[in-house]
Amino acid sequence: MKSTTRLTMVLAAALLTGAATPAFAEADIANGQKIFETRCDTCHSLEPGKRMTGPSLHGVGNRAAGQAENFPRYSKIMQASAGAGLTWTADTMAAYVQDPQGFLEKFTSDAGVSAGGRTSMTYRLRDEKGAADVAAYLISLSQ
Ligand code: HEC
Repeated sequence: MKSTTRLTMVLAAALLTGAATPAFAEADIANGQKIFETRCDTCHSLEPGKRMTGPSLHGVGNRAAGQAENFPRYSKIMQASAGAGLTWTADTMAAYVQDPQGFLEKFTSDAGVSAGGRTSMTYRLRDEKGAADVAAYLISLSQ
């Protein structure tokens, strides 16, 4: 077995079992930047206040959801999640980008808030390791 394959399997196992080390410690920030630049920046800028299809992600790491400057178009379910205390940590961002609608539905339902509606982020990153990496990259920019 190639060592990179084995490493990926170990990381996947660690993520699945929620083992000792948090996803952030395992994440590859350089790969996260590459993913951001190929998958996310068609809709998101890193410049403060620069609105595209999505809000600017400047400073989004460890910030409360739904707070970007100059983005008046957050969906109802995102606003409800923000009201219920959603914060963008490495873990919440990684889960969100893999399934934005499912994540926000679960978050609002766990918080006992009935929001309904759909998030306007229609994109899904179907790559668990990539999601952890891009989340770690965004967190690293906010430190
Ligand atoms: C097709 C456009 C599109 C793509 C591609 C996209 N997003 Fe989004 N994103 C949005 C929109 C629109 C919202 C606002 C969602 C809402 O209000 O429900 C959003 C919201 C977010 C938020 C919450 C921001 C806040 O201020 O609370 C994060 C974090 C985020 N996206 C990360 C990412 C990452 C990371 C990627 C790449 C893996 C990505 N997005 C790809 C359109 C996109």
